[in-house]
Amino acid sequence: MTTNPYPPGFVWGVSTSAYQIEGAAAEGGRGPSVWDIRCRTQGGVVGGDTGDVACDHYHRWEEDVALMKGLGVDAYRFSVAWPRVLPRGRGAVNETGLDFYDRLIDRLLDSGIEPWLCLYHWDLPQALHDLGGWSSRDCAGWYADYAALCAKRYGDRVKRWITFNEFSVFTLFGYAIPWAAPGIVDRAQHLRAIHHVNLAHGDGVAVLRALVPDASIGAIHNRQIVIPETDTAENRAAAALLDEHWNLVFCDPQILGHYPPQTADHIEPYVQAGDMARIAQATDWFGLNHYGPIFAKADPSRVWGYGWGDAPPDSPTHGVGWAIFPDAFREELLTIQRRYRLPIVVTENGCGGSDVVEADGAVNDPHRINYLTIYNAAMRDAMAQGADVRGYFLWSLLDNFEWGSGYGQRFGLIHVDFATLKRTPKASSRWYADLMAQARAATSHP
Ligand code: FCB
Repeated sequence: MTTNPYPPGFVWGVSTSAYQIEGAAAEGGRGPSVWDIRCRTQGGVVGGDTGDVACDHYHRWEEDVALMKGLGVDAYRFSVAWPRVLPRGRGAVNETGLDFYDRLIDRLLDSGIEPWLCLYHWDLPQALHDLGGWSSRDCAGWYADYAALCAKRYGDRVKRWITFNEFSVFTLFGYAIPWAAPGIVDRAQHLRAIHHVNLAHGDGVAVLRALVPDASIGAIHNRQIVIPETDTAENRAAAALLDEHWNLVFCDPQILGHYPPQTADHIEPYVQAGDMARIAQATDWFGLNHYGPIFAKADPSRVWGYGWGDAPPDSPTHGVGWAIFPDAFREELLTIQRRYRLPIVVTENGCGGSDVVEADGAVNDPHRINYLTIYNAAMRDAMAQGADVRGYFLWSLLDNFEWGSGYGQRFGLIHVDFATLKRTPKASSRWYADLMAQARAATSHP
């Protein structure tokens, strides 16, 4: 009996995002985003690192597409930088920025790699933040106009569209726990941001449907089981509220049409007649980013009374300290299947570390291969138990700017020397190429 669980057409890919790889922050007419400002705010990013140069993908994109072709991926998930195409977020369009993605998309297609275009990976134009950003209801309309610009420009060639990446990370860490741009700590602004981002998602789906009739549209949710650090009533209450903010306040309204219970009460002042229908537009698949579980604890010093706890002391962890817990991945896939009843695409999964180029030029990353092996096995178990998973995108193609951790945390299949920008495939890139080849062979010969 075959053990191959992959359905025909299963998509294997890699993911990146604009601010993490492009660099050229002040080139080609790009305007500043909230992350450019965050990097310049003291303490915003470890070591004072910035995305000014990053992987210099803006200039080295041809090499990067060639690397992907060599790897043998079916698809590439990338994001468009809103401030590169609309430097002030709305109004004047920057043709140079639009051209950059035209060239990238064309080269991907010529290379047999399907572009999966994500409209928003956290880089809100600073000019819009100055007008209120996601705290302002108007931001949904600004986003819809930006989505329309991209749909009209790229919709003839791009058929896979993603409205947002990880809604809860940039809203929670941007507006309640100050670990990301814009670094605000305020309950009301957090609630407003949640609701306005949901409206933007709904409007974005409607715009994409109207302008790209054959589009396949998804949204990317980071879902991670929230476990109380220790089993006390306070920690259980903390975990329950964090679970709403992290796992439910976007998926539930977008797919089920309502907010989860505690948030429904809190958010009511910001919800207007017709909003819930505007948010709950049908999508074609559920994008899941998953790395490991979260451990929560009561923390009265934080704005919502919860904070991040520690994994049990004996837990295996990534090089970057995240718990390795493949059962949570399997269960998450099954939970999503039961609760939301959409095909699932794993849009991010991967392993961080501090990989180095050795004397012989090799980059050996057995920790990553080990992590990916057990997480892929967990995904296959979930599929065997009924999870309808249609694709897997590994985070990430390249080592890159890892947000508040700067360049210290490397997630790439390809090592980047940030002094010379030289790319060196790691051992894990060979492992991934082999995995994809074996899966394809098994799929075509069941
Ligand atoms: C996810 C982000 C991605 C990257 C990985 C490690 O939360 O979507 O940009 O930072 O984590």
